[in-house]
Amino acid sequence: MKTIILKVDNTVDDIGRYQQSVDMLKRGEVVAFPTETVYGLGAIATDEKSVAKIYEAKGRPADNPLIIHIGTEEEVGHYAKHISEKAKQLMKAFWPGPLTLVFDQVQNKIAPNALSGVETVGLRMPNHPVALQLLRLLKLPLAAPSANRSGKPSPTEAAHVEKDLQGCIPLILDGGQTGVGLESTVIDMTTTPPAILRPGGITKEMIEAVIGSVEVAHSLGKEETPRSPGMKYVHYAPEAPLFLIEANEDKVKQAVMNCHEKGQKVAIIGPNELKVAAADWYFAIGSNEKIEEMAMNLYKALRQCDGTDADLILAVETNVSGVGEAFMNRLHKAADGKRYKSFE
Ligand code: TXA
Ligand code: MG
Repeated sequence: MKTIILKVDNTVDDIGRYQQSVDMLKRGEVVAFPTETVYGLGAIATDEKSVAKIYEAKGRPADNPLIIHIGTEEEVGHYAKHISEKAKQLMKAFWPGPLTLVFDQVQNKIAPNALSGVETVGLRMPNHPVALQLLRLLKLPLAAPSANRSGKPSPTEAAHVEKDLQGCIPLILDGGQTGVGLESTVIDMTTTPPAILRPGGITKEMIEAVIGSVEVAHSLGKEETPRSPGMKYVHYAPEAPLFLIEANEDKVKQAVMNCHEKGQKVAIIGPNELKVAAADWYFAIGSNEKIEEMAMNLYKALRQCDGTDADLILAVETNVSGVGEAFMNRLHKAADGKRYKSFE
């Protein structure tokens, strides 16, 4: 299969390019498109055969439900029931935007394989002109996970999608680099209080300012069934082993020296302020003072590590306030919990 890449400017009103995507989706194909968080791989969510192509292209385990993307608020009631006042307040405050709300599902609407057998449905209205234009022309919901091979960092540029899925999908809409850079916050609205299942660009503080206190569901052990099934897998991982390291210049320098003594090459992902000259590669992802900027550039840096021949990667920790919570959540997964220890 040849993969076509169509450039779509963020403000473009080139209906032809959208129509081509709409036609392709209606023929039962998958299409990759930009959202404000990461690129998604979309298929019409009510069509089981189309949805199956998402799992096939990504190599995604079938027990992990997909987020259903919609273009208008009216659609919420078609697919979800028991919509609380708090949920309405969150939609009003943060949609379109990087927040996925999990509701009880209206039966027999969304294809069962899109929801992997759960009784709930996660809905989100993305805040990206290309995604919104596509959804509003299509007038149907799109099931769309991140458009990466399962286990790889989510794509924040069309070139990342191309690298992972070229030859496996027919079309990529290229809308440039995505803004948030980490996936949406997922919140379960079926419990009291609501529970954040995955931290993201809409922070706990932002949510609590609107609806009062919420819970945070922590990742469970691999044996238990997590409330958000995606949380149990190693994710976002580059090829070389990745270790977390404290944001302390002396410790980072010491770690580089240790690696070099063992003949290992080391790549570092960290803030601009900590750039250590001795590292074989240093990917500076933004200022320590600007966690949003670091979040936006994290996945690209993880992918850039794959372009080096580093034997190991050190990722510098940040503090976990605001978007730092989502940032560290993703780094922990990429590291599979491993921290660098100097004297092993
Ligand atoms: O920003 C995003 O959310 C991106 C863009 C493309 O919209 N999408 C994305 O999808 O990250 P994905 O499939 O890579 O991650 C979806 C996450 C998984 O952790 C999944 O377990 C959880 O959301 N999820 C989806 N539906 C759920 C449901 N009904 N109940 C609990 N968790 C759900
Ligand atoms: Mg994903």
